[in-house]
Amino acid sequence: MGPLQIKDILQTSPENQSVTVKGWVRTKRESKNAIFIALNDGSTIHNIQAVAEPGQFSAELLSTVTTGSCLKITGQLVESQGSGQAVEVKIDDILVYGTADPESFPLQPKKHSLEFLREIAHLRPRTNTFSAILRIRHALAFAVHQYFNDGGFFYLHTPVITASDAEGAGEMFRVTTLDLNKLPRTEEGAINFKEDFFGREANLTVSGQLEGELGAMALSKIYTFGPTFRAENSNTTRHLAEFWMIEPEMAFFELEDNMNLAEDFVKKVITYALIHCKDDLNFLQNRLAEEDKNKPQNERSIPLLEKLSFVVDNPFERLTYTEAIEILLKSKPHKEKKFQYPVGWGIDLSSEHERYLVEKHFKKPVILTNYPKEIKSFYMKLDEDGKTVRAMDVLFPGIGEIIGGSQREEDYDKLLGRVKEVGIDPENLWWYLETRKFGTAPHSGFGLGFERLVLFVTGMSNIRDVIPFPRYPKSAEF
Ligand code: 4AD
Repeated sequence: MGPLQIKDILQTSPENQSVTVKGWVRTKRESKNAIFIALNDGSTIHNIQAVAEPGQFSAELLSTVTTGSCLKITGQLVESQGSGQAVEVKIDDILVYGTADPESFPLQPKKHSLEFLREIAHLRPRTNTFSAILRIRHALAFAVHQYFNDGGFFYLHTPVITASDAEGAGEMFRVTTLDLNKLPRTEEGAINFKEDFFGREANLTVSGQLEGELGAMALSKIYTFGPTFRAENSNTTRHLAEFWMIEPEMAFFELEDNMNLAEDFVKKVITYALIHCKDDLNFLQNRLAEEDKNKPQNERSIPLLEKLSFVVDNPFERLTYTEAIEILLKSKPHKEKKFQYPVGWGIDLSSEHERYLVEKHFKKPVILTNYPKEIKSFYMKLDEDGKTVRAMDVLFPGIGEIIGGSQREEDYDKLLGRVKEVGIDPENLWWYLETRKFGTAPHSGFGLGFERLVLFVTGMSNIRDVIPFPRYPKSAEF
C-alpha cells in the first residue's frame, strides 16, 4: 500500500524506530536549540513535527525547506518533548523533492480569504480548510454508496450526454462536433443537426432521473450518483453549473415511503461524517467560531457539531405546500411587508420564504409536499384534486432546498396529457412513456444535490468552496 501516511505514523507508539515521512512543509521554525518542520501529507488535518539540531544540515539545504516545499524525511520516531503532539521525528536525513520559492508561492502560513483561495484552486487543497473539506466530501460520497448498497439499491450509470431535456430543469449545455464557423444548413436555412455527431441535437444532462426510472422499472431500487450540468446564469452561493447529484428511484414506493427514505438517508450519511470525520469537523467548527467572533451575538451560528447532531436526532417537520402558505400568510414578515416577494397560493416559494419556515418558524429541517402542479415538473403524480402533485422538497437551515423529489405519474394517459400540456414533444420521450405502457408501477424518487449536502456538513457558506474545481458563469479555469 505504499509508504506509511502521517495519519498512521501519528498513531504509532514511539520506540526510536526508523520512519520515513513524506509530505509538504506547512511551517519551519528555527530556535537556538532546534529546527522544527511541520509536515503534512493530506491524510489528516494534523501535521507531524520533525526536529533537527542546529548545524545538522547545511544552510543551503535548509534554505530550500520552506512553506510549500515537498520533503522526504527519514529519522526516528520519538516521544515528543513539546505539548502539541504525542510523537515527533528526530531527523536523520532530508531529501527535498520539490522546492517552493517563498517569493512566488502564494500560500503562506497565515489566513487567506476564501475568495483569494478560489483564484488558486490548484493549490488550495494544501490548506487546512480545503483538505478538511475534501476529506469530508470523500467520506460523504463513500457513505452514500454504503447506504444504498446496504439498502439493496443498485448503482445505475445514467448517461452524461442526452438528447432530451429531461426536466425542463434549466438551460442545457450543448454537445456538438459541428464546426461553429461553418455550420451545415438545411434547405430552410436551419442548422442541420443530422450532420452532427449523434445525428441530432445533444446536450449535457440536467438529471439522470428519467433513465433512472427505466432502471427502477427492472431492478426495483436504483440510484445514480453523477455529474449534472445546468447552464442557468445563477451567480449565487447555492448554485453551480456542474454539480453532482444523487438520485435514488424506487418501484413500489409512494410519497410517504419516499419521504421516509430521504430523511433516513440524509441522517445516516451525516451520522457517518460525525463518526468518521471528527478531527476535520472539529477543525471547521473552530474555524467558524473564529469567524463568528467578529459578529454580533445574535448573528453567531450554533456550533457545527451541535447543528449536525440536532439534524440527526430530530424528526423533520412535514407539511403540505398549502399549509406552508397559510403559515407564511400569518407570519410577521408578511404582515409587516418585509418579504421581498409576495406570498399567495400558487407562488413558487422563494428562498426568503423557505428560510422563514425552516430557520424562524420550525427551526429544523422541513419536508414540504403536494405543490401546485404548475410549478413542478410534468412527471409528478397528480393528486386527486387535480391541482397539486405528489412532490416533496426537503429544506435545510442555511441551505434552502437540499432535496427535490416526488412520486411519479404512472398512468400513461395522465402522463401523456401533462407532457403535451407543458409543450414537450411526446416523440422525444417515447421510451420514457413506454414504461407506462408495459408493466407500469407506482414509483418514486428524489435528487440530492451533493454539494449542498457538503455545504451543510462543513458549515461553509459558498458552494464554490466545497467542490475541488467549481464551474460557474465565466469560470472554468482549472
Ligand atoms: O430539484 P431538482 O432540479 O430535481 C431534479 O433534478 C429531479 N430530477 C430529482 C429527482 O427527483 N430525481 O434538483 C435536485 C437537487 C436540488 O434539491 C439541489 O440540492 C440540487 O439538486 N441542485 C443544485 N445544486 C447545485 N447547483 C445547482 N445549480 C443545482 N440545481 C439543483
